[in-house]
Amino acid sequence: GGPVADPVLASEVGGLTFPNPLGLAAGVDKNAEVPLQFIDLGFGFAEVGTLTPRPQRGNPRPRIFRLEEDRAIVNRLGFNNGGQAAAIDRLKLYARRPGPIGVNIGANKDSDDRAADYVTGVARFAGHASYLAVNISSPNTPGLRDLHHDAALDDLLSRVTDERGRQSEALGRPVPLLLKIAPDLEDADLDGLADAVRRHGLDGVIVSNTTLGRAGLADPQASEAGGMSGRPLFRRSTIVLARMRQRLDPAIPIVGVGGIDSAETAYEKIRAGAALVQVYTGLIYGGLGLVGGIKSGLVRCLERDGFAKVADAVGTGTDDWAREPIE
Ligand code: FNR
Repeated sequence: GGPVADPVLASEVGGLTFPNPLGLAAGVDKNAEVPLQFIDLGFGFAEVGTLTPRPQRGNPRPRIFRLEEDRAIVNRLGFNNGGQAAAIDRLKLYARRPGPIGVNIGANKDSDDRAADYVTGVARFAGHASYLAVNISSPNTPGLRDLHHDAALDDLLSRVTDERGRQSEALGRPVPLLLKIAPDLEDADLDGLADAVRRHGLDGVIVSNTTLGRAGLADPQASEAGGMSGRPLFRRSTIVLARMRQRLDPAIPIVGVGGIDSAETAYEKIRAGAALVQVYTGLIYGGLGLVGGIKSGLVRCLERDGFAKVADAVGTGTDDWAREPIE
């Protein structure tokens, strides 16, 4: 992955400094065991988790399926993780922060107050994370995606932002709070989400998690239950990103994730409106060489198009992407 430290790739987003815009997506380092190692490999930031208040085993195996020829993955892990307490003990050791470390928080499957689980996550991790990601978009915890709508969304965001406010005051610094959303949303859902982000004062949106859709897959394992990621998610997640970009205040950054497997796909996410990008499935098929490849390729894309820095390219293709139909 060789560190390509090009100043063209550095940026300030939401008050944090990123050496480059390429992050490690949630789900790779679920228990916050090796975020610094990923940053040392060349990532600009790493998002650990999803972490739930109590440890849980997740779904029975098999629960990850490689759709090789589609360059996709279907997973139904179900938030397997060692719980928040153990992760906090590790995060305390990572005082050295060469790049931001985000913590992605979720709810236990058997919780009878899911919003309370997110509040617990905010309270516990506020002092140990560069930002918090409220993940309401895993398709593998039944009912979790209901938190994208209506009273459930408002109740959740009221409670987590209240706790964020308390923590921020106690710490004497901002605690950036991002919402990670699904790609399986209609325009009306995006209207509601953008409105909620504004009303509750969230700091950013991560677009997107895996899809329940199965369009364009050849592999027979496509029929496995779970969320699909990788190349066939790219189009849908990028269109939803652009449509969200159109709806949000320009000061609210979007983190683009879904199907990035090259510098060109990373660059298109940025053009669609992402200030930062993340990758998971691309690494499974492309290996860690992808990190250096994406970064050096991004530098070339920016130079080719006459942009002095990443921020200048953000959103230059939003309207084109937003207009594309989602099949
Ligand atoms: C994920 N993803 C994920 N997201 C999240 O918010 N919390 C999590 O725990 C996980 N776990 C997870 C496990 C596996 C095996 C995969 C493949 C994915 C979703 C991931 O962060 C990302 O949003 C999607 O995978 C889309 O990006 P890629 O994989 O197409 O680059």
